[in-house]
Amino acid sequence: MAKTWKTKLIHSDAHAPEGFRSLASATYRGSTVLFPNAAAVQDTWDQHAVGYTYGLYGTPTTLELAARICELENGYRTFITPGGQAAISLINFAFLKSGDHLLIPESIYYPNRKFSTELLQRFGIEVTFYQPTIGAQINSLFQKNTRLVWTESPGSISMEVQDIPAIAEAAHKIGALAVLDNTWSAGVYFDAFAHGVDITVQALTKYVGGHSDFLLGSVTVRDEACYQKLGSTHQLLGFAASPDDCSLALRGLTTLAVRLAAIEKSALALAQWLASRPEIELVLHPALPACPGHEFFKRDFTGSTGVFSIVFRKHFTKEQIHAFVDNLQLFKIGYSWAGVTSLAVAYDFGPRPGRPAYDHRIVRLNIGLEDTPDLQADLAQALAKL
Ligand SMILES: Cc1ncc(COP(=O)(O)O)c(C=O)c1O
Repeated sequence: MAKTWKTKLIHSDAHAPEGFRSLASATYRGSTVLFPNAAAVQDTWDQHAVGYTYGLYGTPTTLELAARICELENGYRTFITPGGQAAISLINFAFLKSGDHLLIPESIYYPNRKFSTELLQRFGIEVTFYQPTIGAQINSLFQKNTRLVWTESPGSISMEVQDIPAIAEAAHKIGALAVLDNTWSAGVYFDAFAHGVDITVQALTKYVGGHSDFLLGSVTVRDEACYQKLGSTHQLLGFAASPDDCSLALRGLTTLAVRLAAIEKSALALAQWLASRPEIELVLHPALPACPGHEFFKRDFTGSTGVFSIVFRKHFTKEQIHAFVDNLQLFKIGYSWAGVTSLAVAYDFGPRPGRPAYDHRIVRLNIGLEDTPDLQADLAQALAKL
């Protein structure tokens, strides 16, 4: 039919040449997905079952990232979420209802803990926090209504490595699901499903992205039943992820192995060096014997990454430790780790019940891709000023 230039702006007859093939994954943006005819219209979230129906459930870019994370984690299916914290909340909303009980390690990523104390408890869901080193003794904390057992290994900041197979086995005996935040291992150095986990979370923001420039999360499941529950909840929560961010994550995947290899080597060298320093009481790096749960790291992990913590000796004041962090030049101060830039953050555990007595003396380091001798010199000059 005849068209004015204004209509042609929307319904154009012009085409670029066909046949482009590139090494980069294409970035498909789109909210509206076109149907071939009126009868084909349907709003179903499961794009694997029915094909594409709506941008909210993923474009080929989002679903390519999901498939590739799933392949790396040896899972059944993966959902992509707008961030790691969204992945955590998706799981809680999908599997918990009023009257249920869940277990969370004291060492969990803090916003995950806050989600249960500030939000789930409002909906009548009970939470018990447990010591991350509990292992099979977790049995003693089970209730008739326990549905989920969260784990994170190593734990955030205090770095305890958990006995995941023992916890997962105990959870299964009472019909509860074992969930793991597997961000530290980048989903590759700990094979969660082979160790009994039912559902994994990753903040793709961290190692998969690797460049500190977007936020994304993933939830990977071991079976169809978990996939169905999560899919219908993902739809209702409206957790759409940006295809542009997913394309950055796909690019991040291609260099993940070399980044991790360099980061592992550098972090290990620096952790060992720090362990020899007189100012430091403890180096909490899973690959070092002083780290709680080191035996499970040796048994279950195939590598280590670049986040670990140091605990200063007891006589150092909070002001001195803040001065140490402030005096670092290459290490920047900021939360979101696993990028190319080294970071340092001082924490104060205070007299919080259930947490180790590190008080104000703990500093978490993220080792980036700077040259290791330069990072060591930076740490040395800041220690010398103490
Ligand atoms: C262990 C862990 N899980 C989850 C998250 C949340 O990820 P995001 O920042 O993408 O929401 C973080 C972020 O720091 C984290 O450290």
